[in-house]
Amino acid sequence: MKKIILPALVATAAILLCTLFLYMPFFMSRTSDEPGGDYGSKIVLGFAQLGAESEWRSASSESVKRAAEKYGIELMFENAQQKQENQIKAIRSFIAHRVDVIAFAPVVETGWDNVLIEAREERIPVILVDRRIQTEFGDLYASFLGSDFADEGGKAGRWMTQKFAGTSGDVNIVELRGTDGASPTKGRGEGFREAISSDARFSIICSESGDFMRSKGRETMEGILGEHHVPNEGRRIDVLFAHNDDMALGAVETMESRGIAPGRDIVIISVDAQRSALEALAEGKLNCVVECSPYVGERLMELVVALVSGDAIPQAIFSDETMFTEDDPPESLPERPY
Ligand code: AHR
Repeated sequence: MKKIILPALVATAAILLCTLFLYMPFFMSRTSDEPGGDYGSKIVLGFAQLGAESEWRSASSESVKRAAEKYGIELMFENAQQKQENQIKAIRSFIAHRVDVIAFAPVVETGWDNVLIEAREERIPVILVDRRIQTEFGDLYASFLGSDFADEGGKAGRWMTQKFAGTSGDVNIVELRGTDGASPTKGRGEGFREAISSDARFSIICSESGDFMRSKGRETMEGILGEHHVPNEGRRIDVLFAHNDDMALGAVETMESRGIAPGRDIVIISVDAQRSALEALAEGKLNCVVECSPYVGERLMELVVALVSGDAIPQAIFSDETMFTEDDPPESLPERPY
């Protein structure tokens, strides 16, 4: 009898040890502060953020991270530092890790076909967050979640036409563009132009890119003011349309350093509605701020869960957005967490 029991015990112990060894890395990778849910069945989302160029972007990253935690979704998060090649590299690493869903905010519109075809071949669904892409293929991504940039530009342009409705004379506009080749730059620029096209008094006398960054808004405005705003020589800027708050606030700093009163000497319209911009609006340094919401994290997680469950999802989901102007009483402006 002993002869049978001993080898059986040894074999059972060996099987147990092997099982433990096999699953050891799995147990070891679990950390105590991970939110609920069974790690083994956790959905894995790879998110390639485009960078950290603006306060808006930081709020967007925060929104995605918090929502992933809330939904018990394991998040692989990469910051591509505003470089398309870094985003492509991140997406390839998500494919190699066989994540359940890939989401990314494309820094520019073109150049994504190859990597998205690779994701499609591996049957990993992709969600575009915040920015759009241009592609001839209709099936490279499952959904887009973000803002209607042309509508934002349209709101800015329509507000401006009303602001100057009772005035006479030409209106010289300067545009601080976002990153060239990015969908918000294109959409906001087109929407704005379309909205002001009916009045020949409006002309965009200068358009330069500040890459959505405060420092570049500051620097770029320096050169623009030197060239286009010399009132005693008859050169003047009436309006600045900045594609985001950071660039507008950078430009405000430059104007103030040159003794120009932002919001009074030059009308300023901006997009995003972050806290510092709403404060500047309340102080009269900005005149109109069009909202662009960075808070898409929870909606993204709902889409991820739906995709993994095999449910149909909408092809595009746009955020509900508004605008704030100099006519709004400061106490009515919303409190922003960012
Ligand atoms: O794509 C959204 C834009 O990107 C935001 O307006 C801007 O602040 C950000 O950098």
